[in-house]
Amino acid sequence: MALYSDKVMDHFENPRNVGVIENADGVGEVGNPVCGDIMKMYLKIENDTIVDVKFKTFGCGSAIATSSMATELIKGKTIEEALDLTNKAVVDALDGLPARKIHCSVLAEDAIKAALVDYYTRTGKKMPESLVGFEPHED
Ligand code: FES
Repeated sequence: MALYSDKVMDHFENPRNVGVIENADGVGEVGNPVCGDIMKMYLKIENDTIVDVKFKTFGCGSAIATSSMATELIKGKTIEEALDLTNKAVVDALDGLPARKIHCSVLAEDAIKAALVDYYTRTGKKMPESLVGFEPHED
């Protein structure tokens, strides 16, 4: 059996939504201190909806594939829906990842949350309960 699913390979080789949003409403950057990989997520938000999202990942193939899939899953969704997106849902959407690569998908979930924290901090809007005190995972 192949180590990586076709979907993982597809999103690694043709990642969606790569880039930078210059006038983003929220930017989140997270890193994994163990492997040293870094992910940056840019959100454009209108009426509590994520109208655009882009990412830059300096990291492994699984981190690139999960960021790509995560952006696809939150684009056009409300903030509330984006907050419900777990790394597990991203992994499932990619038809799985090897166990030792699950931490890569955590970066994607954390980067989205960090970008939303930035959005609420900048706008001064009331942060949803689930984001208050948010800290990216350490491993
Ligand atoms: Fe670090 Fe994948 S090995 S994010």
